Amino acid sequence: MGSQSNILKICIAILELLIACNFASVDAWIGHGITQARQQDFPFIVAITKRIENINAERYIVCTGTLVSSQDVLTAAHCTNNEELNGIQLIVGSVDIRSTNRHYPLWWISQYQWAMYQLNYPYQTDVAVIRLINRLEFGTPYALISFYTLEDLVGRNVTTAGWGEIQNGAYPSTLRTTTTRIISREECQMRATMLEQRSLRVENNVLCSVGFPYAFMMTGDSGGPVIYNNELIAISTGTGPLPDQGMHPDKVNLHDNLYYYRRYLYETLNAD
Ligand SMILES: *[C@@H]1O[C@H](CO)[C@@H](O)[C@H](O)[C@H]1NC(C)=O
Repeated sequence: MGSQSNILKICIAILELLIACNFASVDAWIGHGITQARQQDFPFIVAITKRIENINAERYIVCTGTLVSSQDVLTAAHCTNNEELNGIQLIVGSVDIRSTNRHYPLWWISQYQWAMYQLNYPYQTDVAVIRLINRLEFGTPYALISFYTLEDLVGRNVTTAGWGEIQNGAYPSTLRTTTTRIISREECQMRATMLEQRSLRVENNVLCSVGFPYAFMMTGDSGGPVIYNNELIAISTGTGPLPDQGMHPDKVNLHDNLYYYRRYLYETLNAD
């Protein structure tokens, strides 16, 4: 009798472990409804990694990015802040980060730097363009950019993707994707203020999104595309509160809305 109840206890322990394992293995973006991305859905995806020959590129992920022309990648500005031009590589057009289609940056410029050259007063923005040394082969697919105001987007579903950290500190080799819903600025401020326990202001250029019921970006998901109607509308920049500040179902994902970057994008993507 005693041994039977011990076996039962062990079985329950194993069952709990299996549930825990399963939970960990489906997350990357962390939360619900996260799946491995299909190649045909993200032909324009870019992985930004440290410049290494090592095949385990996923361990060296810096950020995710999007190809937006035959020679330009959009990402989050904070992804480039601590990097050197010769310190990173861009793995272009594959949902498998182990792909050997590697490219190198010629230069990069954040919207913030650009605004300072324009003698505009720069406000807090987190978008950068990375120009590749070599123009990609003619016909290489890149994402089309589309501009929508927040009012157009509230309540809409968007698709996001990234190679961000999995719960236990591991990184996926296949891109992960999920659907989130854009929420209003008021709802976003309310959620973030409640969690941070200090008043937070969400700027006009920031979009907030939540999962079903929740899905959060992690380190490495930054810079990833936000897709609406098959077009790129925003760049993922972080979460409120930040990824290392723990999990809470009310947390929000933050994205920079490209609508507010029209002139910067026009001038930078057309630069020689
Ligand atoms: C948004 O996505 C969720 C989860 O996939 C789905 O249940 C819901 O119906 C979608 N809403 C719209 C408006 O497409």
